[in-house]
Amino acid sequence: MKTASHSPNSEIFSGRVRRSCLAVPGSQVRFHAKADQSSADHVFLDLEDSVAPDAKVAARAQVIDALRTLEFAGKVRAVRVNACDTAWCYEDIIAVVEGAADRLDCLVIPKVEDSDHVHFVDNLLNQIEGKLGLSRRIGLELQIESARGMENISAIARASSRAEALIFGPADFSASLHAPELTVGPLKPQYPGDYWHYFLARIVVAARANGLQAIDGPYAQIRDTNGLRTSAERTAMLGFDGKWAITPAQVEVLNEVFSPRQEDFDKATAILETYQGATGAGQNGAMLLGDEMIDEASRKMAWMMVERGLRLGMKARPWHPKSPPNLSA
Ligand code: GLV
Ligand code: MG
Repeated sequence: MKTASHSPNSEIFSGRVRRSCLAVPGSQVRFHAKADQSSADHVFLDLEDSVAPDAKVAARAQVIDALRTLEFAGKVRAVRVNACDTAWCYEDIIAVVEGAADRLDCLVIPKVEDSDHVHFVDNLLNQIEGKLGLSRRIGLELQIESARGMENISAIARASSRAEALIFGPADFSASLHAPELTVGPLKPQYPGDYWHYFLARIVVAARANGLQAIDGPYAQIRDTNGLRTSAERTAMLGFDGKWAITPAQVEVLNEVFSPRQEDFDKATAILETYQGATGAGQNGAMLLGDEMIDEASRKMAWMMVERGLRLGMKARPWHPKSPPNLSA
């Protein structure tokens, strides 16, 4: 859902909070209540790759039961269905949307290869929502996880007004590239620079150009919290909104990394206040805040940070330009 922005800049997207998106295998019922109790912003019950082929049909009812009986209070509630070119996709969508109806916020569509996939899901949802008389539209989160999906990313990103986010899928993407990799989403320190940079940058640009959020995929080394943090910090720096967690133990780090740091929130608030106080008639568009020049572009950057923080309930403290924090640290 896109909500109205309070910003004077109409390009700015305010949507659901997705710092941590917790993946939960649909067929493993014991994990459902744990996900409900977790601090994840977003929980998605999976019918795709974490569910064995023989368990896929039964998992539909298990997922519907979880959505109907658990609260998932304050969380985005999503289901990942099977990909559009599988035998399960259309029945997944019909069963889950009809079964969970108003207790479902979004569908995650994996392995989106081109805009036709998105149109197919969009049309199917139109019919189901019409039949059920649902007043709220189901949103879409589109996984980009193949070379073809990456090539077609712009068309995919603008294919439906239901789209809310683009998600990177590093495991399937590595397989699609024929990259010699056996781990899901690792840091790859042996690569000069950040191995994932181009793909992630491509995704965040396509997302922002179409008013969508950008979400990074899983980091499978579940005991390597430092590696998870580094991976998340890199995507956060690019402008991503959040990242998948594959266990509740990964959630806390992600919620921290994808929240503005208090000192950055304070500085951003100071930029807005200084700028607003100094741009009246006869005044200049550029001014100093401490040792830094600020102007209209600074106001936009600051607003992005403030808007993100306000959605998380942050409160600004006084900020003193004498010891300016390093925004890029
Ligand atoms: C997630 O779906 C991935 O392929 O990494
Ligand atoms: Mg995948």
